[in-house]
Amino acid sequence: MTSKQSKSPDALTFGPRRPSFELAEALAGDWHSGSAFKTAYFNAMSILFPLGEKFFIDSVRVYRNQIDDPKLLDEITAFQGQEATHRLQHQTYNELLCEQRGYDLDRFERPVRDRMTWAYRELSARRRLAGTVANEHLTAIMANDMLSQKDAFMGADPHVAALWAWHGVEETEHKAVAFDVFVAVGGTVRERRQALMMNTYFFFKDTFRNLCIMLKHDGKLWSLREWLSGFKYLFVRPGVLRRVFFAYLGFYRKDFHPWQHDNRELIAEWEKDYGRTVSRTLV
Ligand SMILES: [Fe+2]
Ligand SMILES: [Fe+2]
Repeated sequence: MTSKQSKSPDALTFGPRRPSFELAEALAGDWHSGSAFKTAYFNAMSILFPLGEKFFIDSVRVYRNQIDDPKLLDEITAFQGQEATHRLQHQTYNELLCEQRGYDLDRFERPVRDRMTWAYRELSARRRLAGTVANEHLTAIMANDMLSQKDAFMGADPHVAALWAWHGVEETEHKAVAFDVFVAVGGTVRERRQALMMNTYFFFKDTFRNLCIMLKHDGKLWSLREWLSGFKYLFVRPGVLRRVFFAYLGFYRKDFHPWQHDNRELIAEWEKDYGRTVSRTLV
């Protein structure tokens, strides 16, 4: 007998889209409202995705044969397809960025690679899956903020902003897939809490390391103006990190599930405005 392991809304169906974005011109300069800090903040995050998303896909794949709910199995396939497309798009993004601005991609990626090697050597498959669940929470709450508040990319290049919006929509669609697999294979609340603490630390460490390298390369590392405006952007107005704080804490609740916050309207809204032009494969 099969059991219901997917806790995503019954009516939710999703799959990978195949969008294309004109990034080259914008990525050569400060594409986010002429701000070196905001541009570097998002560029620094983009650097993490190709390696991170491969790790996410692999950590879920290991458990596929332990899942018997057909809905969750379809969602795993969709999750893998979406993350694989994100990897490709961000790889293109990162290569264009580094080529045009003279950054060393390998230098950015090295510590992430080393940590992953460590994770494969030292952590159990379930701990690695817990890490994916935690990271999916971080991406889901940032995506929710971006899509609902609509001001994180105010003044940014529309092509680059479109890539981030598309990524945010798909992170919303598949936000519970790794979580449901984790619960189905016996993952514990304690494991996922510890994973979120650890992954929050490394996510910001890696992002800010990359950001500092970029600002240094561009001669802006010691610009007080850049740091003050960056601090304001992250914590005051619009406060993209301040605003996700309570949503972030929600994950530490014992009975947390990503779809307790039903934000499907953000997907529908995006599809109406932007999604008409990109093709999509439904699960
Ligand atoms: Fe992704
Ligand atoms: Fe994801």
